[in-house]
Amino acid sequence: MEIDFVRSRFIKHFDGKTGNVYASPGRINLIGEHTDYNGGFVFPGAVDKGVMAEMRANGTEDTVMAYAIDLKDRVDFKLSDPAGPRASWARYIYGIALEMKKLGVPVKGFNIAFAGDVPLGAGMSSSAAMESCFACGLNDIFGENKVSQWDMVLAGQATEHNYCGVNCGIMDQFASVFGKAGCLMRLDCRSREFEYFPFKPDGYRLVLLDSVVKHQLAGSPYNDRRNSCENVVKHIQAKHPEGKFETLRDCTWEQLDEVRAEVGEENYKRAKFVLGEKDRVLAVCDALNEGDYEKVGELMYQTHEGLSKDYEVSCEELDFLNDIAKKCGVTGSRIMGGGFGGCTINLVRNDLYRQFIATAKEKFNAKYGHEPKVYDVVIGDGSRKLC
Ligand code: GLA
Repeated sequence: MEIDFVRSRFIKHFDGKTGNVYASPGRINLIGEHTDYNGGFVFPGAVDKGVMAEMRANGTEDTVMAYAIDLKDRVDFKLSDPAGPRASWARYIYGIALEMKKLGVPVKGFNIAFAGDVPLGAGMSSSAAMESCFACGLNDIFGENKVSQWDMVLAGQATEHNYCGVNCGIMDQFASVFGKAGCLMRLDCRSREFEYFPFKPDGYRLVLLDSVVKHQLAGSPYNDRRNSCENVVKHIQAKHPEGKFETLRDCTWEQLDEVRAEVGEENYKRAKFVLGEKDRVLAVCDALNEGDYEKVGELMYQTHEGLSKDYEVSCEELDFLNDIAKKCGVTGSRIMGGGFGGCTINLVRNDLYRQFIATAKEKFNAKYGHEPKVYDVVIGDGSRKLC
């Protein structure tokens, strides 16, 4: 995306003046799904697609004038209005501004125009890209950049919780803020320690296949999944008052089995997936360190199986894409992100790439009447000021 494109709209829709331009990416995740809010590990990376915003203080006390370039939609609102704007895209601006104020940033009225090239509803975190882009801008314009990167991550997450109805974890906002070109990141969501992993697999590449089934997390079973996990933890805690169980990360397989009957089969299956996924992320790290990409791929297939059968966040189209990958001999494939639609992420040998994409397009089209979209993964940088 070009700065000039965003700038020309900013100038046209406001008073002709220019502001500062900020960018934040969407993300992929190699493995570690639904583990973030369970205190486990995740393995995301930022992508070369995201959100770009031009912003400038407008001299008012608390009036925000916002323009969504892609939607050609203009919304003005006051930060002091307790209800906030109705348009879902404007709620991200409203929410992050109030969260940054809570962190001590003296946010006043501002103008903002933004655009994005991260596909919406594809499970690549277009919403985290917005939150971290706007947080980065507000921190720079009003906060002398005093808010730390981690606090911006948490402000983005709080925006989802408090203004958008999604009880998400910290993976997406973390990846968007901390991303680094060419590197995946292994994050321990309990301690918040993380490591950059240069990712340049020799002879393999990552590609996303977008089913174009819109994934929408707000008000969705996403929050139910989180409740299931928390419910299991409460039962384990009640059985073991001597211990401290905050998330499923603190629980063992034996403890899970002990509460199986009382939590019921559905909750049990959810927690079982999470415990397995926690171990898989660590196994993927070991395999990457040994350059064993076939092992990484095997673990990705296991994740898909668990997300589909136990966590139940897949859908027919994504299972179909996963199945095609398997039949084509693709090294690894799984649903990526929150689920309920969106993309599969595929680890493919270079020599198989063309044939796999052609087969997936043909078979998917024959069954669903349209082709999946194909995004080659380029791992890019995190939130930054462009000018
Ligand atoms: C969404 C959430 C994340 C994470 C993933 C699943 O992207 O925003 O916090 O829970 O789903 O791994």
